[in-house]
Amino acid sequence: MSLMEAPERNLAFDLVRVTETAALASARWLGRGDKNAGDGAAVDAMRLSFNSLPIRGRVVIGEGEKDEAPMLYNGEEIGTGQGPALDIAVDPVEGTNLLAYGRPNAIAVVGAAPAGSMYDPGPSFYMRKIVVGAAARDAIDLDSPVEENLKKVAAALGKDVNDLVIFVLDKPRHAELIREIRRVGARIQLHTDGDVAGALMAADPRSEVDMMIGTGGTPEGILAACAIKGMGGAMLARLDPQSEKEKLAILEAGLDLEQTCDVNSLVRGDDVFFAATGISGGTFLRGVHFHGQGAVTHSMIIRSKTGTVRYVESHHNWQKLMRISSIQFD
Ligand code: FBP
Repeated sequence: MSLMEAPERNLAFDLVRVTETAALASARWLGRGDKNAGDGAAVDAMRLSFNSLPIRGRVVIGEGEKDEAPMLYNGEEIGTGQGPALDIAVDPVEGTNLLAYGRPNAIAVVGAAPAGSMYDPGPSFYMRKIVVGAAARDAIDLDSPVEENLKKVAAALGKDVNDLVIFVLDKPRHAELIREIRRVGARIQLHTDGDVAGALMAADPRSEVDMMIGTGGTPEGILAACAIKGMGGAMLARLDPQSEKEKLAILEAGLDLEQTCDVNSLVRGDDVFFAATGISGGTFLRGVHFHGQGAVTHSMIIRSKTGTVRYVESHHNWQKLMRISSIQFD
């Protein structure tokens, strides 16, 4: 007979307040063509919100250096300084251009895990990734040709290859990959940005996306791993430097360019938490809806230990919120 454990604190409920705050602050910049202003608003809101949480957090996956954006920098201590010691991964606006141009699927994202459990990407900016849902978890291999991956994934899902929908970032580096997917006959969703949303859509059996493949950000890979650990699915990834400078820096940092990582090597253990809130709206999570007296946000939160995925719809009331908030949302 197994004894029911008393429920522990599910940090994802704290984290969703952080992503909601970042989404509310940055959504004002939707379509205004200024990606740094939108990102900056989200970073400031996220930092303030994190600092009210009873955690001893350290940002290990920050963002910004790649494109000199405003950032929650790597090594930054966040939280009240009391409570669990955590590695924190953040992307206040995942898809800054999606936000700046009003395109779908910009999201605010955070992940948390016990201190020391997240892969440290050092100076690596880019990773090659393949993500699928649980049913196709044994069908993918980073070293196999694209055709073989597509055929095996289709077989695992009980589909024909031409039924598949593959999420690919629309980047010049993927020209050959896109040609190859088309040659084999699978269908493609091309997105200019946002491969965390892409990875989560690929991992979610309810979404029309069957697989994500291609090279995107390393921080985004670790954030996606935090979610996939809880929601199920599989991800394989390997550092994929896009310049000689990046490659040399990775080698100097002692990182292994040959290592294939799965979700368990990207974030170890089973105490991993994830939250994401939609900013611009789209196929993945609905965006922030301002209605004059307040706003509605849509988020997903995940706890890896239980595998519970929750969708949270929050109704924010300016009149009450503005009495206590130091962030000007209205
Ligand atoms: P930002 O939020 O930093 O703008 O990143 C968006 C993104 O599209 C990620 O989803 C993706 O992993 C990465 O950029 C790809 O990088 P690049 O645009 O340099 O190819």
